Amino acid sequence: MKKIIVLYDSWHHHNTEKLLQGCGEKCQGKVTVDLYPLHDGNAVPDLSSYDAIGFASGVYAGRMSEKILAYIKENQTALTDRSILFFSTSGFANTKAMKNAAGMIPDSTVKGMFACPGWNTFGPFKLIGGTSKNHPNETDMQKAADFVIEAMK
Ligand SMILES: Cc1cc2nc3c(=O)[nH]c(=O)nc-3n(C[C@H](O)[C@H](O)[C@H](O)COP(=O)(O)O)c2cc1C
Repeated sequence: MKKIIVLYDSWHHHNTEKLLQGCGEKCQGKVTVDLYPLHDGNAVPDLSSYDAIGFASGVYAGRMSEKILAYIKENQTALTDRSILFFSTSGFANTKAMKNAAGMIPDSTVKGMFACPGWNTFGPFKLIGGTSKNHPNETDMQKAADFVIEAMK
C-alpha cells in the first residue's frame, strides 16, 4: 500500500488538522496517510520511505503558513525528485496560496492541490460567527480522501 506523509501547520481552528485526520481515516486500506505537525524546532522524520509528501495549512493573509513555506525553501533540492501534494483550508477555498508555495519547486513534482473551506473567525468575520462554519465536514474529508487515492495511483 502506498504511503504519504503530510507536513502541516494548523492553528486558527485546527481546520486543516481535522481535514487531514478525516482524510486519513477515509483512506484506510487504500493509502496510508501519516501526519506530522511542523512546529518550531521539531525534527522532521525521515521522508525517504514515503511515496509522496504533502504540505498543508490554513491560508493566512493570502499565504500558506510561514513554517510550511520556510520548510519548502530550505529543502528545495531534496524535494526536487519527490511527488508532492498540497492541501489548504481557507475562507475562500481557492488554490492561489498553494500555487505560490508550489512555485518554489519544479512543476513536475506537484501531483495535485486540494482546496477546502475552513471556519474563519478572523477579524470582522468573528462578529457574524465566522464564515465557512462547520467546515471541514465529512463531505470535505471524503473529497480529500478521493483526491489522495487518485493522486497516489
Ligand atoms: C490571521 C488570519 C488570516 C487569514 N487570511 C485568510 C485569507 O487571506 N484568505 C482566506 O481565504 N482565508 C483566510 N483566513 C481564514 C483561514 O484560512 C481559515 O480559517 C483556515 O481554515 C484556518 O486553518 P487552520 O484552522 O488549520 O489554521 C485567515 C485566518 C486568519 C486567522
